Amino acid sequence: MKIIVNLLLNCIFFIYGILSKSYDEVQIPMNDIQYIISHLQIKYRMNYNDAKNCIIELEHFFTGIKYKIINNMIDHPPGAIKNTWEIYIVHTSMYYNFSYLTFDRYIHYTPLVEDKGQLYIYNKLRIFGIDNMNETVWLLRSLNEQEYYSSLATWNTYFKKSKSLVNFNSNVNKFLKQFIEEYNPSLNNFKVLDIAMGQGRNSIWLAQKGYDVVGFDTSIEGINIAKNQAERLNLTTLQTYVTSIEEFYFGVEQWDLIVCIYFPIINQTKYLQKLEQSLKYKGLFMVEVFHWDNLIGEHRMPIDVTYKTNIIPLLFSNLTTIIYEEPMDYSDFGNRLTKIIRYVGQKQY
Ligand SMILES: *[C@@H]1O[C@H](CO)[C@@H](O)[C@H](O)[C@H]1NC(C)=O
Ligand SMILES: *[C@@H]1O[C@H](CO)[C@@H](O)[C@H](O)[C@H]1NC(C)=O
Ligand SMILES: *[C@@H]1O[C@H](CO)[C@@H](O)[C@H](O)[C@H]1NC(C)=O
Ligand SMILES: *[C@@H]1O[C@H](CO)[C@@H](O)[C@H](O)[C@H]1NC(C)=O
Ligand SMILES: *[C@@H]1O[C@H](CO)[C@@H](O)[C@H](O)[C@H]1NC(C)=O
Repeated sequence: MKIIVNLLLNCIFFIYGILSKSYDEVQIPMNDIQYIISHLQIKYRMNYNDAKNCIIELEHFFTGIKYKIINNMIDHPPGAIKNTWEIYIVHTSMYYNFSYLTFDRYIHYTPLVEDKGQLYIYNKLRIFGIDNMNETVWLLRSLNEQEYYSSLATWNTYFKKSKSLVNFNSNVNKFLKQFIEEYNPSLNNFKVLDIAMGQGRNSIWLAQKGYDVVGFDTSIEGINIAKNQAERLNLTTLQTYVTSIEEFYFGVEQWDLIVCIYFPIINQTKYLQKLEQSLKYKGLFMVEVFHWDNLIGEHRMPIDVTYKTNIIPLLFSNLTTIIYEEPMDYSDFGNRLTKIIRYVGQKQY
């Protein structure tokens, strides 16, 4: 009975919506759109059209909030739209203005770990009368998976409830361990930087070996776990910072080794220069990421940590490649055999 009433109501709303177009669609200001597009392109390597389509669907989602079709506290947007929203929010002053102008208040989403596509929201909006929606965007699968690796909210949740981080290798990365054991750098003044150190599996191991380690991560929960463990182990050579790669000061000719394990590397000259400049002469840059092959099939990996063959050495073309491998091995995420990329480049200038 309830279903039939609902259906009837939906029908009425649908017809009403079409006939009257009784709403003003929320529009994100042009400047903000440019900002969001460029960040979607960088962070998720989206093409211009996909980014634009995500923004249009975010506008539809906002329209639903404005007309109370959507409850922003309960209705969690699907991955691609959530990522778009998150990018918008990150630039606080811009989003703050938009949110107050549009909703008379500051609205945010509640982070959810599970993403089922949320097509029910799409249907609610269609029934309300928004007719130019793009279902594909609401179903974009590879994008929604990225949030597991890219979203700060998600990482904090993971680290807080460490059991929810399933199939994550919380021990030192195998490639790093093998490399250090073989290369065996002298302890004397060998400085390591661990980019996005998380809960410190790699930093702690390096500090235990006696190296001077600096690590940073945007997740305060991750850093707290690392700090507590360092304290328990009486480690004095580990320094940690809660910050992002954009804000961290890399310095010039500082590091003998930079460790970059499953972290998105951005193809932007400014960014790459910053990394290279901060290496000492003979300094090493170590990367482990997924191979591009992981974008197909059942266990798709996030696109921002997935690279085609030989792209990494190309990005760091001023470094001399010491190691480039594409083994099938256990990655730190997923606990199954996966094609991964392992790279070490050396600064010889
Ligand atoms: C819907 O969005 C997808 C993803 O951006 C795009 O490839 C497709 O062309 C869009 N479809 C329409 C009808 O705009
Ligand atoms: C937000 O609005 C205020 C007041 O209108 C304005 O001064 C400020 O520049 C706006 N900020 C952004 C980022 O647009
Ligand atoms: C850390 O230092 C304290 C005090 O010196 C000592 O009691 C403890 O056993 C040490 N712990 C480890 C893991 O070395
Ligand atoms: C590589 O070296 C060239 C020539 O010195 C320089 O112009 C370029 O900025 C360097 N690239 C990076 C990523 O540091
Ligand atoms: C990096 O970006 C430049 C400019 O967009 C492009 O020409 C180049 O092919 C890209 N390199 C890689 C390795 O993706």
